Amino acid sequence: MNIKLLNKKSEVTISELLVFGVFEDFRNLDVLSNEISEYLSVLKEQEKFKASFGEEISAVIKYENVYKNVLIIGLGKSEELKSEKLRKLIAKIVRKANELKLSSAELNLINTSELVSKETLEVIAETAILTNYKFDKYKEKKSQITLNELNLVIGDIEKIANYSSALAEAEALALGTILARDLVNEPANVLNPKELAKRASEAGEKNGFEVEILKEDKIEELGMEAYLSVAKGSENKPRFIIMRYLGDPDNKEKIFGLVGKGLTFDTGGYSLKPTAGMVTMKSDMGGAAAVIGAMASIAKMKLKANVTAVVAACENMISANSYRPGDIIGSMAGKTIEVLNTDAEGRLTLADAVHYIISKERVNKVIDLATLTGAALVALGTTTTAVVSNSDEFYNDLQIASNPADEKVWRLPAFDEYKELIKSDIADLKNIGGPNAGTITAGLFIGEFAKDIPWIHMDIAGTAWSENEHDYITKGGTGVGVRTLYNMIKNNTK
Ligand code: BES
Ligand code: MG
Ligand code: ZN
Repeated sequence: MNIKLLNKKSEVTISELLVFGVFEDFRNLDVLSNEISEYLSVLKEQEKFKASFGEEISAVIKYENVYKNVLIIGLGKSEELKSEKLRKLIAKIVRKANELKLSSAELNLINTSELVSKETLEVIAETAILTNYKFDKYKEKKSQITLNELNLVIGDIEKIANYSSALAEAEALALGTILARDLVNEPANVLNPKELAKRASEAGEKNGFEVEILKEDKIEELGMEAYLSVAKGSENKPRFIIMRYLGDPDNKEKIFGLVGKGLTFDTGGYSLKPTAGMVTMKSDMGGAAAVIGAMASIAKMKLKANVTAVVAACENMISANSYRPGDIIGSMAGKTIEVLNTDAEGRLTLADAVHYIISKERVNKVIDLATLTGAALVALGTTTTAVVSNSDEFYNDLQIASNPADEKVWRLPAFDEYKELIKSDIADLKNIGGPNAGTITAGLFIGEFAKDIPWIHMDIAGTAWSENEHDYITKGGTGVGVRTLYNMIKNNTK
């Protein structure tokens, strides 16, 4: 979508749909054109429109002597219009424009100058692009997305110059999020570990980060036995994906680490999933998608930071060669693991990936993202990402970074008592902690491999995938994590 900031106030508009937002107190309507302010006064007098949040009136009216599609949107109380609510309104506007089969829309912000800031313009642009997203490459009849131009009328030349960088950032963040959505939505017969590695390489080439791919022999040489145990049941061989972005070469030893769970499909292995639980398991690389998407956005915006991301990509399948419940396996860190459930595979791949990124890539902080447990859905549903961390300060940074993205996070306790639950009688660790506190024990299992550096684990099992379309979220992959990670890295450069 082509998004522009416009200065014009009274020239004949070029957009097909004119959108005006109105606060509940009907403030500042006099600054709008006569036709519109008169129209709004009539609506108000007749009490047909109260401008409460989300209320909408769609009409064709004469505007500067031309008939135009006009959409009036109620903004509610200005003090209550936070970014999350603004996103809902923008999604509504974009969906309306597509429903009316219009190709261009103009959002007039002259009477709502409260909404003209770097932050809000970014929210508007980002949300508009994300709402327009569709995954229809396999459909003969493509979706009816008509809107391809959005003009934001802010009416001030100076501001236009100041705020154009907000649009560039919004576009970079939308690009990373869409890349993540595409990767999640791609089916597992197409997106196997090799293809995921190829897509990461392409993203690196396009946006400016280095990508190194390790094949099985190299992975074996590194001693990643936990990861390889999961991978060995599949004909599709694993790929260990390493992405490096060096945006702050003067501080080479300061490196931020990202790790994404990259199960391109999870059948559960011999601890087989039931049909209903398996059907969306192409999304079990949502963590990988988030870190690849974030790397794309970070590199695109040339952030002054060093970031290394890794993905231990593989497939959890059944074959004569698969690992079994009861197996005791090793790991790159040297710890032995009793496998009590082959469906708790993500933590095994992440254990080696986290150990690798700390010991070989020398990152100073690490965040892992993983569609790790069904228990995260039970605990927090589909709106909030569950977090386990060993650092109050680092978690505080995450909360700050997640706010402007409107991606909700919630920290779970990580008391030592929970760590007892993953101790094995016959190995150093076991890969399940019993029926209780599943998200915590899964997270703490990974934490065992994080050494002493600040570490955050984000369980995105509930948030990486949406069963329905709502607001700016489309059905399927959500791209969750990309924007929060980007903000995290950006804030870390200050
Ligand atoms: N990939 C799943 C977790 C998952 C479930 C993601 C639902 C998205 C939606 C993970 O590998 C898994 O199977 N976890 C098990 C762990 C259990 C065996 C301890 C689970 O949650 O059931
Ligand atoms: Mg599993
Ligand atoms: Zn899994």
